[in-house]
Amino acid sequence: MALLGLCSALYAQTVSLNGGWKFSLGNAASPQKDFGAGTEYFNYLTKARSIHNEGPYCEKFDDSSWQEVSLPHDWVTTLPYAPEASHSHGYKTVGWKYPETSVGWYRRRITFSPEQEGRHFALRFDGIFRNANVWFNGIWMGNEPSGYAVQSYDITPYIDFDGENIICVRADATLEEGWFYEGAGIYRNVWLEETSPVHPTPGGIWTEWADGKLSVHVEWAHGQAGEARFRLLDAAGNAVASSQEPVLTLSAPHLWDVEDPYLYTLETRIGEDVYRTPVGIRTAEFNARDGFLLNGRKLILKGVNLHQDHAGVGSGMPDELIEWRVRRMQELGVNAIRCSHNPASPALLDICDRLGVLIIDENRLMGINDHHKRELENMVRWGRQHPCVVLWSLGNEEWGLENDVRGIKIAREMREYVHGLDPTRQTTIANAGGATLIEGLEVHGYNYIIQNDVQGRHARHPEWPIFGSEETSGCGTRGIYFPEEGRMPAINRTHEYENVIERGWKFYHGNAWTGGVFWWTGLDYRGEPNPLQYPATISEFGLLDYCGFWKDEAWYIKAWWTEEPVLHVFPHWNLAGHEGETIDLWVYSNCDEVRLTVNGKSLGKKKMPADGHLSWKAAYKPGKVVAEGYKSGKRILREVVETTGPAVKLEASAQTIGTLAVVTVKVLDAKGRVVPDACLPVKLSVEGEGRILGAGNGDPAYLGPETPADGHNMEMPAFNGLLQVLVQKNGTDVRLRCSGERCPPVYFSIN
Ligand code: GAL
Repeated sequence: MALLGLCSALYAQTVSLNGGWKFSLGNAASPQKDFGAGTEYFNYLTKARSIHNEGPYCEKFDDSSWQEVSLPHDWVTTLPYAPEASHSHGYKTVGWKYPETSVGWYRRRITFSPEQEGRHFALRFDGIFRNANVWFNGIWMGNEPSGYAVQSYDITPYIDFDGENIICVRADATLEEGWFYEGAGIYRNVWLEETSPVHPTPGGIWTEWADGKLSVHVEWAHGQAGEARFRLLDAAGNAVASSQEPVLTLSAPHLWDVEDPYLYTLETRIGEDVYRTPVGIRTAEFNARDGFLLNGRKLILKGVNLHQDHAGVGSGMPDELIEWRVRRMQELGVNAIRCSHNPASPALLDICDRLGVLIIDENRLMGINDHHKRELENMVRWGRQHPCVVLWSLGNEEWGLENDVRGIKIAREMREYVHGLDPTRQTTIANAGGATLIEGLEVHGYNYIIQNDVQGRHARHPEWPIFGSEETSGCGTRGIYFPEEGRMPAINRTHEYENVIERGWKFYHGNAWTGGVFWWTGLDYRGEPNPLQYPATISEFGLLDYCGFWKDEAWYIKAWWTEEPVLHVFPHWNLAGHEGETIDLWVYSNCDEVRLTVNGKSLGKKKMPADGHLSWKAAYKPGKVVAEGYKSGKRILREVVETTGPAVKLEASAQTIGTLAVVTVKVLDAKGRVVPDACLPVKLSVEGEGRILGAGNGDPAYLGPETPADGHNMEMPAFNGLLQVLVQKNGTDVRLRCSGERCPPVYFSIN
């Protein structure tokens, strides 16, 4: 397999258009209530420029009563829940049953200067959920049904360089594309790209590395090939190669790797324009003997599946929050993410290039017709530049095709199409157990060893490259050890099932011919709260909850996926109501031996089995549980879990990335210990130069608001001692005020 030099093209001038939008709900059932759009004598398809119309896409439309929003924006976060709403989408009142909350209109003004006339301009939307229609100055630019495609519109001839211009978008989330929460609206970034008239197509600069040479591909827009000159800069900005030809010679390149995600920058000069493109040089290959090789070295993919939504903001995650989540995954030892089940956002790919996390980028819908190929091409075009992307997934669990020979034909044609766009990467499909479709695959992704005879398939087909595309991490609610309505203890400990997380990891770790495994999932996501139903609205499959707070299984993964010493004992010891009951006490740890002492009585030292856990039994009585971890006979860790007193105070701390502060509010007892079962309402206010984007508590059965109506003040119960607030900082003077029942107000300054 050829070495790759990959890039993510930055346009000559790229300006964010995330600020300054106006928003209003429309109506999916009634064109009259949908601002009359489509009811006009001459609608937007009848005449190119709708000068006689009144609708939102017309320049003269009055949007002064519309809400001011900035992007990314997911309007579903503000909608209530209802038991009859879609289980898949987390019982939020959006979708075909709710026409009045399923269409959203956006408008934004934009001006240009007369000096810019003669340049080329494109509007780029990284993703709109869904079925987006876009207008510029009343002129229809086009429609994109997919909620996951990057959309780029040439607006050059429609621009008024002397006056105001109007961008208008209508998104219609009536139909679901996934069986998981997808949000609604312009939930990814929007850009204005300015170039000279002769320029590459969007995503049209990409590179390949082979035999000491970096070949640059420039795909020209409108068939107008221009002259390009190239320079490759190292990470310090020194030119290491330059050429008039699209080939750069580089001896002994600094490779991109998960531990050392080294990026060069390719400068492509076209006339006056300079395109800067990050380039990572690496090889990636799945094979039947080693599983997966990165730069020729076997790497176990320690992966997670992730959907693209987070507590408080839904699918409208700012780039900083996406980065925060990826960093939390890395803390667990994760080195790979599968973008289930849709193409990744350009932002996620940039972040993973930078942080050294591998990506399996996944197509949404299988098929070989124009629409399917367009979506496939979109994914490859925006992803092939990125060193983080190591595999294209053509689909997931296509039950209707898995046992049908037509599945093989479709998969083969899709695979060939992808190879035409990117000859450097393999393709896969994630399988639910079918026997036919798998015959045609390059790389075999298996969802759950319990429904796929992975061992048997390897025995019958030792030539098949194999990895675990999904495996259950345990499914449970953070801090819940006894079933409650809408919440559940992790199935690993209930004895009704096998310990699923250990079963999964032991299998993939124990079989060196596999490429590793991707947990279902890294973080909880909204929707499909299986096996529960309303009032549960959030899935509980995550290693971390919907806010990124750790569940017990996260410690199991950290113990076996990192070199850091880990010792975690659970459950917590605030089990009021269970006095006298026998409790299973578990320890996740990578120590050699662990001793457990409960309420002063030693229950003995036990040897930790590889990739396993330890357990003891003790009758519950308030008090103290002490775990001591030993390595080579020496005690290296001590973990204490105590029955706490009542909640009396709050404490906040923040992790800041760029202008986003991810604030954790903890509920403490008088001795400063987190009260692990405290679920009290907390009042939150942001003062100064900031606003609250949203808040979350990780409780799957929380049905209250997650955003502040005024941007600054809201109330949310802490769940099992914790609460998260996402604060957008617009300056340095930002303060969060928190207060709760019996907990006096505290001010926390966010720097
Ligand atoms: C898988 C599917 C995932 C998710 C999961 C829930 O079959 O691929 O998207 O639905 O089940 O258990």
